[in-house]
Amino acid sequence: AEQTYIMIKPDGVQRGLVGEIIARFEKRGFKLVALKLATPSKEHLEKHYADLSSKPFFPSLIKYMLSGPVVCMVWEGLDAVKTGRAMLGATNPLASAPGTIRGDYALQTGANVCHGSDSVENGQKEIQLWFPEGIAQYKLSSADWVYES
Ligand code: GTP
Ligand code: MG
Repeated sequence: AEQTYIMIKPDGVQRGLVGEIIARFEKRGFKLVALKLATPSKEHLEKHYADLSSKPFFPSLIKYMLSGPVVCMVWEGLDAVKTGRAMLGATNPLASAPGTIRGDYALQTGANVCHGSDSVENGQKEIQLWFPEGIAQYKLSSADWVYES
């Protein structure tokens, strides 16, 4: 099944949105296969956002991501990458639809609460980067009711 790397950024943790964000993915029907609170190094965050290293906002992005602990998760299920991005909303929260995480809880791009993988391939890379220890494999009993038979 498809997996996506979802991360609650420092502002999301500090604002008490961890439970809310986890609940949305749980209720949607996705399976939680990895979860931890982490305080990543600058080098680790630069690797995570390596594709953006030439952007003018890169230093401020790294500073933002270093401002506190983050919550790292892997969610698994049908079309998890695309659906996860849809649940997060647009990069700029002012352009995010109400009902999305950013559209409900954020106002600015530099404080947009959460990260989600943008492709299956990048998702697998991010899962390796953030969970080198590996992730869980188990059957979620509710899957029989979430997915049509
Ligand atoms: P992520 O899920 O965090 O990867 O966001 P995204 O895929 O919606 O956007 P992108 O990968 O292009 O940018 C990564 C992050 O960099 C964004 O979520 C923002 O936090 C930050 N960012 C992107 N563009 C800007 C910008 O123009 N200004 C500032 N200050 N931050 C930006
Ligand atoms: Mg991105």
